[in-house]
Amino acid sequence: MVQATPFLLVLFLALGAHGLSVKKCSLTGRWVNDLGSNMTIMTVNANGDFAGSYHTAVTATSNEIKLSPLKGTLQKSPNQKGQPTFGFTVNWSFSDSITVFTGQCFVDEDGKEVLKTMWLLRSHVESIKSDWKATRVGINVFTRLPTQE
Ligand code: BTN
Repeated sequence: MVQATPFLLVLFLALGAHGLSVKKCSLTGRWVNDLGSNMTIMTVNANGDFAGSYHTAVTATSNEIKLSPLKGTLQKSPNQKGQPTFGFTVNWSFSDSITVFTGQCFVDEDGKEVLKTMWLLRSHVESIKSDWKATRVGINVFTRLPTQE
């Protein structure tokens, strides 16, 4: 028992230090995706809810692109281990459409944060007969933009 105590102490400290050094993925900040779209996520509150803005690089419409609001929420369960799942909705200010994104915030092998997402873009159609063509689906990967001075 006497010999085991220093060993257990070292093990405990090593595990504790490892826990402290593991980088967590945070949604807050500015992001760019593989299409060149930019988004800003403001503070995530204690419930995991957040808001922000989205500037898409592309549109399915012929309308002029404008900055659009987003609202989302992230999973606060302790099992998320610093790489939380989340979802958000962009209510496009320049079109009749809505996009929902769902994804997970990862820290990659180089320690870089990356958001792996899938999205559904729902366009407005004139009648139920056109419902079949109203939803697009895709994937976007977001990386963090450097913080501005
Ligand atoms: C529209 O065209 O009606 C609104 C803009 C939609 C932009 C889509 S949302 C999914 C994909 N990811 C982006 O960053 N932009 C496109």
